[in-house]
Amino acid sequence: MKKVILAHRYHEEAVAALSREFDLVIAGGKDGGLRACLRRHADAEALISFLSDPVDRSMIQGMRKLRIIANFAVGYNNIDIAAALQKSILVTHTPDVLTRATADLAMALILAASRRLVEGDAMVRAGEFHGWQAGLLLGKELNGALLGIVGMGRIGLAVALRARAFGMKVVFYSRSAKPRIEKQFGFARVTFLELIRSADVVSLHLPYSPGVHHLFNRDVFAVMKKDAVFVNTARGALMDEAALADALEKSEIFAAGLDVYENEPAVNPRLKKLKNAVLLPHLGSATEATRRQMAMMTVQAVRQALSGRKPRHLIPEWKERLKK
Ligand code: DGY
Repeated sequence: MKKVILAHRYHEEAVAALSREFDLVIAGGKDGGLRACLRRHADAEALISFLSDPVDRSMIQGMRKLRIIANFAVGYNNIDIAAALQKSILVTHTPDVLTRATADLAMALILAASRRLVEGDAMVRAGEFHGWQAGLLLGKELNGALLGIVGMGRIGLAVALRARAFGMKVVFYSRSAKPRIEKQFGFARVTFLELIRSADVVSLHLPYSPGVHHLFNRDVFAVMKKDAVFVNTARGALMDEAALADALEKSEIFAAGLDVYENEPAVNPRLKKLKNAVLLPHLGSATEATRRQMAMMTVQAVRQALSGRKPRHLIPEWKERLKK
């Protein structure tokens, strides 16, 4: 039986399918962390990886028979793609199935940060709600506000469409032109500077790559509107967390809603003290239905690769390579 390594236990249905069809090794527990497990099982033919575990060059190089890395996430910046391509190891991810769940969560953060939901909840629990007041916890109105989407991929578009239902206007920044989106939905593509200067809410939906490390830095927060809300459900390293804490402390922006962090699971301690920061533990795709679908997609990818077929959800770098 072909050996498959699963970085962590996940949806039981997927684990059951993998155990039936392959010699399944689940890293963690007595097998140690992923690095130790890969060392011990260097003859594995497939790895199902999680965004929380780096799969670096030395790990990849140590694998003698690896044919596929199926990442249990849409973002795959945890994997050294150049190293995988060099060894012709297929890499897949889980696009589409998590678009709605992640867009819902981004919208929840936009609402929570704009309307001060977490502050309100804390106030009630602390017994500090002493009756309705005209000026209590006033927030920002979404109707008529301008949403700036940074990264107009599937999730960015899904957030834009949700926001439109709340009466928000939408502009977006994207490296490539998106004439279909501009025409069909009337969302205008603007420059990055125009977006950060004018948006009332900025929502981040770019994949991470070193070229966009700390895209949101001190200078960018300084240019944003004083009453802007900043939301990041993409990747933590797209923002300079210390610079964001400064901007929030000095009220250079109104609030932030974060689902991701620069050095997960660590969170800048200054952010934790701020009332105008809503902090979630990377829950973007965390619904029962979505996580099941994501897990089953990784099983399908491993099946396809190990039976010599082309997996359906190869990452773009692999699709490019196959075109040549
Ligand atoms: C992803 O798939 O990249 C998400 O961050 C998971 O929640």
